[in-house]
Amino acid sequence: MSTTRKLRSQSWFDSLEYYSFARRAYLRSEGLSRESFFGKPVIGICNSWSELNHCNIHLRTVAEAVKRGVWQAGGVPLEFPTISLGEVFMRPTTMLFRNLMAMDVEESIRANPLDGVVLLCGCDKTTPAQLMGAASADVPSIFVTGGPMLSGDYKGAKIGSGTDMRKMFDLYRTGQMSEEELCEFEGCAARSNGHCMVMGTASTMTSMAEALGMTLPGCASIPAPDSRRLAMAEASGRRIVEMVSEDLRPSAIMTRDAFDNAIKVCMALGGSTNAVVHLIAIAGRLGIDLTLEDFHRFSQQTPYLANIRPSGGYLMEDFFYAGGLPALLRNVLPLLNGSCVTANGRTLAENNSEAACYNTDVIRPLDNPLNAEGGTFILYGNLAPNGAVIKHTASSPHLLQHRGPAYVFDDHEEMLAELLRDDLPVDENTVLVLKNGGPHGGPGFPEWGHIPMPVKLLKQGVKDLVRISDARMSGTSFGTVVLHISPESAIGGPLAAVRTGDTIVLDTAARRIDLDLPPAEIDARLASFARPKPRYERGYGKLFLSHVTQAHLGCDFDFLSALPPAAED
Ligand code: FES
Repeated sequence: MSTTRKLRSQSWFDSLEYYSFARRAYLRSEGLSRESFFGKPVIGICNSWSELNHCNIHLRTVAEAVKRGVWQAGGVPLEFPTISLGEVFMRPTTMLFRNLMAMDVEESIRANPLDGVVLLCGCDKTTPAQLMGAASADVPSIFVTGGPMLSGDYKGAKIGSGTDMRKMFDLYRTGQMSEEELCEFEGCAARSNGHCMVMGTASTMTSMAEALGMTLPGCASIPAPDSRRLAMAEASGRRIVEMVSEDLRPSAIMTRDAFDNAIKVCMALGGSTNAVVHLIAIAGRLGIDLTLEDFHRFSQQTPYLANIRPSGGYLMEDFFYAGGLPALLRNVLPLLNGSCVTANGRTLAENNSEAACYNTDVIRPLDNPLNAEGGTFILYGNLAPNGAVIKHTASSPHLLQHRGPAYVFDDHEEMLAELLRDDLPVDENTVLVLKNGGPHGGPGFPEWGHIPMPVKLLKQGVKDLVRISDARMSGTSFGTVVLHISPESAIGGPLAAVRTGDTIVLDTAARRIDLDLPPAEIDARLASFARPKPRYERGYGKLFLSHVTQAHLGCDFDFLSALPPAAED
């Protein structure tokens, strides 16, 4: 590599001061000769590998492939860890720690002698956290996503992790599946490394990284165990060295137009509702003001094309064999700004306009969509003055216009216990309401919004109810579920006023979610609302509660979403 631009790392290693000498000496303690690193671009490999995060368990192998590429291109790879966020292990929720990981990523990049960074991610929150951190640090960066697991397989049927696990657990809860069968199923649902292989939050956010232009083309869809993922990692290692030479930074790739593209791609994918929160937060790091209305507008303009669970029928492995994200991008290119530059230095259109599709049932063309509109609708109304989200493609059509009596749970634990009751006073018209699931209420904005179906109704064959909350839900979930109600109940949002027996009106055609009570009655109830005592009085939890923004603003910390300081040269 040749460049006339001074490398950022030179100010660490190439000056006359004592610490330059000391840094060279200590780096040589890793076994590197002076010739192997001096004067060369230093590439950090930001690794979210952890044995507490099974989805990212293979990322050390991926890192080795990245290192090969970096060495081949004349750079010096130095791998470093950050906190990782294992979706199903962490309590109370990984979302509580997304901003912590983003800060870890940002400050690790900024504080160290790095000229460029390759970021390795996969499980739900690791991708948005790394995108937020990389955006704020604004040092040349490329993402290598970990890829989805292979399809699950149980008794000859293809199984999607998350989505089908919930369905099977409902069978177990209602006595239709034995303990032995559940045990066998456990070994079939997540049978390789990689992240969940439905269009959940992980597949959505890794696809967003590619749609934004932060990966090489085709990266997101390659299954985790496929050898082509390592080849992709090696190519990304070579490419980051060139990006350093070109000074191609995240702020030049993740532009307003790139975010508009990403939202449309999310709609065409039937992507996770969590992408709404994450994309707003990532954009905020770059001073780009995405709003809920952007999501609704682009949802109405973008047909739903990717036939993948939970909204569709196939799995991510099928999506890859059908052509993967490049094939979908080719189909939606007429709706996108194809001139956006991507990590390989070419435009989105140049990268994808010739992509082939090998299965038009998995990746539908624009003139044969699964739905004329995208997957995510934004609702307002007297229950959600600042907005709420519903994934209507994963909802029951007959419930999208619904009026019914509320049954209210004040917290998550109460809800879980009550849902098991055979005498729970609910029927197919009931609207289940969960309070205290938002950023402050959870705390941390947990994925409690997919309120499980009451066992009593499952036994009667009722498969879906309208469910509303200020919580999120897993992107692998499904049902007629209104989420992210803002402002949340724990800070006195209107959801706090709902009582069991009140009438709730869901009208997706009018984009409304309302409590059918006179405004004066709602105001009177809210006037007596007492904010619960904060869960955290110290430490990171206190920082979170002091600074997290509401759902419609992305739940970043208020002090992080401003324009970043310029990275040092
Ligand atoms: Fe990591 Fe599903 S548990 S993506």
